[in-house]
Amino acid sequence: MHNRIRMTDTLHFDGSTRLLVLTGAGISADSGLATFRGQGGLWAGHRVEDVASPEGFERDPSLVWRFYGERRGAAAAAAPNAAHEALAAIERRLGERFLLATQNVDGLHQRAGSRRVLEVHGSLWRSQCSQCDAEPIVDDAYPVGEPLPRCGACGALMRPAVVWFGEALDYRDEWLLKRFIKDAERARVRLVFLAVGTSGSVYPAAGYARYARDFGAETWLVNLEPPSNAALFDRIVLGRAAEVLPALLGKAPETTVSAG
Ligand code: OAD
Repeated sequence: MHNRIRMTDTLHFDGSTRLLVLTGAGISADSGLATFRGQGGLWAGHRVEDVASPEGFERDPSLVWRFYGERRGAAAAAAPNAAHEALAAIERRLGERFLLATQNVDGLHQRAGSRRVLEVHGSLWRSQCSQCDAEPIVDDAYPVGEPLPRCGACGALMRPAVVWFGEALDYRDEWLLKRFIKDAERARVRLVFLAVGTSGSVYPAAGYARYARDFGAETWLVNLEPPSNAALFDRIVLGRAAEVLPALLGKAPETTVSAG
């Protein structure tokens, strides 16, 4: 086992610490939603390029909408868990000293009360035109059947407003995230980067830990198993997010709590 992995570890907060959190599918696993990789994962039984690429959508938009309609149904039936709630609680305490970037598209962070959230891979709950630049719309319809939804502006097919393979992330999200990191360095305050429930296999999000570390952040990870980018973390706590996070983040900024 990696020598930096500890089953029991502590995250201390003082009055100036800033916290940047990156979450992945593992944080919603405790709410019953499937992660992506491994047995029973969302990509199991699907070729990723069929359901999560612009080319796949062009080939078979009905299949893609079936897939995302099912994901909307599963997300709507799920409830935020103690890990989502712990992040919403610490945001209420830290205010602008807190920022959450999530790779998840399920909306559970917002339902738990998080407000300072960057949805870097988009949202299941928005749709956008597959052709023109009309603003994405809020869309909570599921299942999505024939006729498939069309753009009110140009008539082309609508598609889920999620980031697909081969597509760029919204540059504004990356800019906000990097500014948060650089601001902490400029202000000479301690920055904690905390990744939760992510395999570290999809870039650019998997590279944020390195970026934060290069600017002096202390890097923490809470995950069920060691991720592929484990070497980037100063502290790794192995366990279920819903069990570890409430203890790790404590009750007050000054509180010191042991996890594990
Ligand atoms: P993955 O499915 O790749 O990884 C989920 C991670 O969560 C794994 O390392 C699990 O060990 C861990 N995990 C599972 N249950 C957990 C629990 N209860 N508590 C803590 N950790 C747990 O999901 P992501 O890293 O989010 O992108 O995947 C990143 C991106 O890959 C996704 O956003 C998606 C996918 O392709 C797009 O669709 C663009």
